[in-house]
Parts: sequence; structure tokens; C-alpha cells
Amino acid sequence: MKLIEGLETRTSIRGFKPTPVSKETIKKILHAASRSPSYTNSQPWEVAVVTGAKRDELSKILYDLAASGAKSNADVPAPKSWPEAIDSRTKVHGAKRFEALGVGRDDTARRNELRLQNFKFFDAPCAMFIFMDKSLGPWSTMDMGIFIHGLTLAAHGLGLGTCLQASLANYPDAVRSALNIPDNLQLVVGMSLGYPDHDADLNKYKSTRVDVDSFTRWY
Ligand SMILES: Cc1cc2nc3c(=O)[nH]c(=O)nc-3n(C[C@H](O)[C@H](O)[C@H](O)COP(=O)(O)O)c2cc1C
Repeated sequence: MKLIEGLETRTSIRGFKPTPVSKETIKKILHAASRSPSYTNSQPWEVAVVTGAKRDELSKILYDLAASGAKSNADVPAPKSWPEAIDSRTKVHGAKRFEALGVGRDDTARRNELRLQNFKFFDAPCAMFIFMDKSLGPWSTMDMGIFIHGLTLAAHGLGLGTCLQASLANYPDAVRSALNIPDNLQLVVGMSLGYPDHDADLNKYKSTRVDVDSFTRWY
């Protein structure tokens, strides 16, 4: 796949086949993403790859917390407010996604069911949890974003699908405890990884983008 095609065709995948992903393939993805640029080549990322029994155990822990209504205690707090233009994009995203799935505005039960799918990793056989040292600042957060996009693109290039999930970072203490991760590492984001099930309902929705000219000033 050409690089430009990969960038243009990657989408979040929220329905996976049960087919396991080999360690060799996961290593290939990690290796390709590790070629990402970073501030003074600092490479701040640390990754936990979770499959098999550990995947099931962690999924249950996170699912139970989310289903019980436990409040998020994310290391990277969610924004409290957005500038107006951005706020409207997030609302359009939510509304269009539920519309594509035929879920009504007031159908809170179904909306909650869909939210909880996050914690089942959308049935993906592999989950990744991505950390960086708590003492690092915004430049490293930028490096993390570049690395994480690299993971999604490398996976896509190998015929796999990914969904980045802030929701998987809602309960970082539970993740650290289950995976024996030291306290100095903050959980930045989680990601489901597997072979896409293109027939899955949750993969019906395709996100849109604002036009290039709406975010670019030309001189
Ligand atoms: C940092 C980050 C956190 C995200 N968290 C979630 C999440 O918790 N659950 C989910 O289903 N999608 C999540 N997404 C996926 C976005 O909704 C998705 O990238 C966006 O709507 C654009 O769609 P696309 O990835 O299909 O192009 C997240 C994406 C990013 C980059």
C-alpha cells in the first residue's frame, strides 16, 4: 500500500474477527512505529501488549468498572470545554455515528451498550496500552501522538485494524495494577488491534473531515 493511500484510507475499526495477531506481526507494527520522529530522538513511548488470558482478565476489570459507573480517573484529563468550532465537530461526530447505527437520541440503554463495547476491545484479540513517564511535558505528548498514529498506519498497512481509545485510559490504576506497570508511567491511551470485520455494524460509520481550506491560511 502506498503511504498516501494508507493515510487516506485508515479508519477506526470497531468490530474485529477473532483471528489472533501473531507476535511477529505485532513486533513489525511496533518496530515501524518506533521509526517515528521525536523531540531530540527521546522516544518517550512505552507499550504494553495484551493478548490471551490477560486480555480477557483486563477487559473484565475495565468493563466492570465502566458498567458500575465508576468515575474516570484518567492520567490525561479530558478537556472540560472546547472552542466552539471544535465542540460542534465532536457533536456532529457523535450524532452521525449513532444515526448510522440507527440508535435514537433518547435510547440511553443502547448508547450505554455501545459505550461499554470499548471495554471489550470491540472483540479485538489484542489490546495495547501506551504509556509515558509522568514527568514529561507537552513536547513528549506530541511525540506520543506521532508514534501512536504510526502504530495505526503500520497496522493498516499490514491489513489490520485499530481503534484508539481514550476510554481505555479511564482507569489507569486498574491497568497498572493488572499489568504490573510502575507508578511513574502515565497511561496515555489504549488501542484495540486485530483483523477488521468489515461486516460488523460498528464499522458501518465512516467519519468525515472539514475541508482543507477551513483550517489552512495560504500566503
Ligand atoms: C486520542 C483518541 C482517543 C479516542 N478515543 C476513542 C474511544 O474511547 N472510543 C472510540 O470508539 N473511539 C475513540 N477514538 C476514535 C475517534 O473517534 C476517531 O479517530 C475519529 O472519530 C475519526 O474517525 P476515524 O479514526 O475513523 O478516521 C479516539 C481517537 C483518538 C485519536
